[in-house]
Amino acid sequence: MIDINLNLNELDQSLLKKLDNYVDSLENPEGSLINILHRAQKIFGHIPHNLQLYISRKVNVSAARVNGVVSFYSYFNEEKTGDYLISVCMGTACYVKGAEKVLHKLLEELDIEQGKTTEDGKFTIKDVRCIGACGLAPVVTINEDVFGHITKVSALELLDSYRGEK
Ligand code: FES
Repeated sequence: MIDINLNLNELDQSLLKKLDNYVDSLENPEGSLINILHRAQKIFGHIPHNLQLYISRKVNVSAARVNGVVSFYSYFNEEKTGDYLISVCMGTACYVKGAEKVLHKLLEELDIEQGKTTEDGKFTIKDVRCIGACGLAPVVTINEDVFGHITKVSALELLDSYRGEK
């Protein structure tokens, strides 16, 4: 549930301008909510409640509907994520092939809870629904990169390969 008294002035005005330009270029903004949310996440990095409220007013749909879409799709993030967003697929094929063990190993190694970010701001881990790469199960993505046939051991190796970056 979004509080409609949220302060929209806290949003970065230059980033809002970019989003406005995109929305204003659409023929049917009301029917393009998912595209708008994709663009909003690309511009802002995540979609906090005050940005959801802004979008709902701009596009003229209810804040509850915007929040419902953001909450439904695991792709969207309401909270700021780390430099690297690690998504562990928990769809059926991945789950059956051990995705849960991979997820727990990564959480244990980084000492964080699911959906949270490490203190240094480097990694966020979340579970997601099927990403459509079931032949590679179990699948982990890190930002835009997709990795298949992940085991507990290879998950840690993968983590190490990203630890030295940025
Ligand atoms: S179930 Fe994981 S990619 Fe489909």
